[in-house]
Amino acid sequence: MSLKRIDLLICCGSGCVSAGALKIKDRFHEVLAEKGISTEINIIETGCMGPCDYGPVMVIYPEGIFYKHVTPEDVEEIVSEHFIKGRPVQRLMLQDEDKVISVQKEVPFYQKQVKVALANCGYIDPESLDEYIATGGYEALGTVLTELDPQKAIDVVKQSGLRGRGGGGFPTHIKWQLVHDVQADQKYIICNGDEGDPGAFMDRSLLEGDPHRILEGMMLAAFSIGASKGFFYIRAEYPLAIKRIKQAIEQAKEAGLMGDKIFGSDFCFDAEVRTGAGAFVCGEEMALIQSLQGERGNPTPKPPYPATKGLWGKPTVVNNVETLANLPTIFLKGADWFASMGTATSKGTKVFALTGDIKNTGLVEVPMGITLRELIFEVGGGMTGGHKFKAVQLGGPSGGCLTQEHLDVPVDYESLKERGAMMGSGGVIVMNDQKCMVNVAKFFTEFCVDESCGKCPPCRIGLKHMHGILERITSGQGKEGDIEELQRLGETICKLSLCGLGQSAPNPVLSTIRYFRDEYEAHIRDRACQTKVCPDLLHFNIDKSRCIGCSLCARKCPVNCISGSREEKYTIAQIDCIKCGNCQDVCPVKAIDRVPGLHEDVVKHTEEALQKLGREEE
Ligand SMILES: Cc1cc2nc3c(=O)[nH]c(=O)nc-3n(C[C@H](O)[C@H](O)[C@H](O)COP(=O)(O)O)c2cc1C
Ligand code: SF4
Ligand code: SF4
Ligand code: FES
Repeated sequence: MSLKRIDLLICCGSGCVSAGALKIKDRFHEVLAEKGISTEINIIETGCMGPCDYGPVMVIYPEGIFYKHVTPEDVEEIVSEHFIKGRPVQRLMLQDEDKVISVQKEVPFYQKQVKVALANCGYIDPESLDEYIATGGYEALGTVLTELDPQKAIDVVKQSGLRGRGGGGFPTHIKWQLVHDVQADQKYIICNGDEGDPGAFMDRSLLEGDPHRILEGMMLAAFSIGASKGFFYIRAEYPLAIKRIKQAIEQAKEAGLMGDKIFGSDFCFDAEVRTGAGAFVCGEEMALIQSLQGERGNPTPKPPYPATKGLWGKPTVVNNVETLANLPTIFLKGADWFASMGTATSKGTKVFALTGDIKNTGLVEVPMGITLRELIFEVGGGMTGGHKFKAVQLGGPSGGCLTQEHLDVPVDYESLKERGAMMGSGGVIVMNDQKCMVNVAKFFTEFCVDESCGKCPPCRIGLKHMHGILERITSGQGKEGDIEELQRLGETICKLSLCGLGQSAPNPVLSTIRYFRDEYEAHIRDRACQTKVCPDLLHFNIDKSRCIGCSLCARKCPVNCISGSREEKYTIAQIDCIKCGNCQDVCPVKAIDRVPGLHEDVVKHTEEALQKLGREEE
């Protein structure tokens, strides 16, 4: 580790890189060289530090000063004020109400977090094997290989209560035991880094921020089950993760931490990286195995499970990135330590990608059993823009939406499932009171329709049918019985689909019907979207008392349906309005409102048109 005067940790996770972190790093090199103090400062590029919303972020040691939203223009001041004169730059620190928060450990975002899988993310240089080793890296592997046999290693994992973090929450030791117990000339371990959920970035951040931890976790799993070969399956959209894992493999080989007779034991291991083309269904383990074999990534009926007939027909364990990331610490700190966190059935911590209408979006790791309220309002900092909390979608595109009444529910596998949501791999999307839940359900259903592999009819046809009904409802064509039909279809698809995609894809619709049925009913019966999201179920109205008659809206309306004068003010011809919203965007005095429901002129016009049609048919 560095012996320099200052350690400057710059977050170079994907979020901060896209916000300009690399330019800032280059600027630091320039300014430090200009001032002649390059030798005094250690610049370290780390993985994601967590609070991506504040990016680019950095931490400066020894004090641990935390700066947010840094720009290349700020670098000169940081160097001359902080590094040279010892006066940290207050304006770059986080303000919490009246308080200035100077050091990272006092940032509220981190308060309820416990970092196990993410322990090194944002603290070490992911490209340095030495830094990983300095934090205790590969110690667990050394101990396990020299002091335990595979069965004892499995027993440790059993005692820890670790369950798979890839979505299903399957006890890790059970599938390890199955593969351990099978006799075979070749067994495989696969790390599932496909991560296809929209908005999720837990596994990417782990692979980018601490690749040696995942590699060590893979080797611990491989030793336990008797595998000598491992594959990382990572989607091609994650080039940095792929680069870092490949680099970690090379470094480990060079250092003798991978290869033959590791730590002088009989354990020999080699690993390769394979890239996926980015289909959501390829995260499903059977589809993933097919894709790894070079075939089309289609799920296959289970049994046989990968444990008996996996990659190239050999016994295989597929483990999620985060599952593997927990292993080195479980072996180092002990199963009881890990099991002391969490609830009776969900042990340890869970990494979440917090997104949506909250103040602190980013990557977090919290003990299982934390309540949704703590996760959203304390770690996440609450809602943005003074809006109210409405719902939280947990478990990815096929997870469920929970509501205000569930805020005190503990986040664990069983509690979420009981209420129609699921832990999934850790995507959490928080929604405010401006979201239309029918529209939300339509969005996720559309995602699953697009991502269905099409192999089995309930998923391929049923989901499309559900999406069609949702399209009708949100465009004002819903009819009595649609809600019941959605429920019937959803339940049937869950029961009859071949793989987890189809078995869970109806969840967003079923959970929103369960908790927001009144919104579906308003769309169907009143032809109104109370949140004013669905364009076909609202109209625009100019409030003449606020209109100043500037005519801007009339000039920007693409169908010329606004008319009036400075004196008489302006009016929208509702029948011709196409609801593009241009007028509302340009009005300088905000005189144009979105009003739920159809305008009476449109209702009357439609009725007359239908009557005319009826007469003509007679
Ligand atoms: C449609 C679908 C997509 C999935 N995507 C992923 C994924 O991206 N990453 C992952 O680890 N597991 C994913 N899974 C779960 C895997 O099938 C498998 O259960 C998991 O990788 C096992 O690892 P674990 O026991 O460590 O959780 C997906 C499952 C389904 C049905
Ligand atoms: S449930 Fe959907 S994704 Fe899964 S096999 Fe059937 S069609 Fe393919
Ligand atoms: S843009 Fe606004 S203020 Fe101007 S005419 Fe239209 S409604 Fe009135
Ligand atoms: S990428 Fe920098 S904090 Fe997440």
